[in-house]
Amino acid sequence: MEFGINRMRHELERNPISVIKVFTEALLGDDPLIEGSGIVVRPQRICSYLANILKSIAQDAYPIEKDGVVLDGGDAIPPLEAIGCLRHDSYRVQMFLRGVRDAIREKLENNGGEKVRVLYAGCGPFATLALPLTTQFESSEVEFTLLDIHPESVTCIKKLIEELRLEEYFFGIYCCDAITYRHQGEKPNIVMTETMNSALLDEPQFPITLNLLKQTDHEGILIPENIKVFTFIQDDRGCLKVLGEVFQVNRQIGMEINRALKGAGLLLEGKMPIFTEVVIPNGVSGSIFLGTEICTFGKNSFSSIGNWRSSSLTDPIHLVDVDMNVQERTMYLNYVIGGKNEDIKWTDF
Ligand SMILES: C[S@@+](CC[C@H](N)C(=O)[O-])C[C@H]1O[C@@H](n2cnc3c(N)ncnc32)[C@H](O)[C@@H]1O
Repeated sequence: MEFGINRMRHELERNPISVIKVFTEALLGDDPLIEGSGIVVRPQRICSYLANILKSIAQDAYPIEKDGVVLDGGDAIPPLEAIGCLRHDSYRVQMFLRGVRDAIREKLENNGGEKVRVLYAGCGPFATLALPLTTQFESSEVEFTLLDIHPESVTCIKKLIEELRLEEYFFGIYCCDAITYRHQGEKPNIVMTETMNSALLDEPQFPITLNLLKQTDHEGILIPENIKVFTFIQDDRGCLKVLGEVFQVNRQIGMEINRALKGAGLLLEGKMPIFTEVVIPNGVSGSIFLGTEICTFGKNSFSSIGNWRSSSLTDPIHLVDVDMNVQERTMYLNYVIGGKNEDIKWTDF
């Protein structure tokens, strides 16, 4: 799609959703956006345009500066920071939008075209992972239920939906804690959340995921489909090697944890301690990191290795430096999902 600022401005006043559609298709990789000079517009710039458009449509419902909310399972970041996830992390946005689109398509195929119900926890002020996709489906094909803990986010997304006349795509919009939310009505076919930081630290992705899984049926799709935390070493020549897996969250593991917690009558406080062995290879010098691999759905994956620094969600977390004089040895990693980076303990008994 050829992109000219003046034409776009005119179109924005006349029909903003058509501009959002062009940007969404460029982010989905279906139709790159080409500037007048023939240059392909970079995804980061598209996300920035999109954020500016949504801000101008939200007008006085655009959130102002406020603090986050501290929860048992990790912190809910403030609304403006949630908007920052659109402005500054385009790779994340692309991978999630593609994953959600593909999951909706798969459900439509398997349901014989019946409307797909999506429960989206932690939507932020713009519902970044849902609103753009309304340009890709009919309202008879998909409906979203949105949750966020910040009233300012809920006010903003309601205003956007009203201004853009997208009401038919949204079943409900609730201000609530997604860790304890109980869904009313028919079970969603897809549950999704991006309330995470790298290595599942800081934010409540894990307890929200466990709760979302309770709201869907045995065929429900979870997005992200899989999150893996692992250790890896970067040697002095820059070569990367995975040392071992630390933890994974997906539908099956989440359901098993839910069953185990229920069976044991345990109360989950949202955080989970992880204690694991890591074997440090002999004769290597370099740095050891915690890495994250996220598969949103199907082939849409990104990781701390392979695509170095592609997204803040996969930023490697430095653990320790080792030098080549050290013999092969086992060390122990102790950290808490939903906990803080500075609480990670790395010991060598
Ligand atoms: C990382 S932002 C993502 C925002 C948006 N989904 C996006 O992808 O750009 C996480 C959002 O989740 C919300 N959130 C965090 N914990 C929550 C909870 N326990 N219940 C409901 N919302 C929560 C935050 O308020 C924030 O808007």
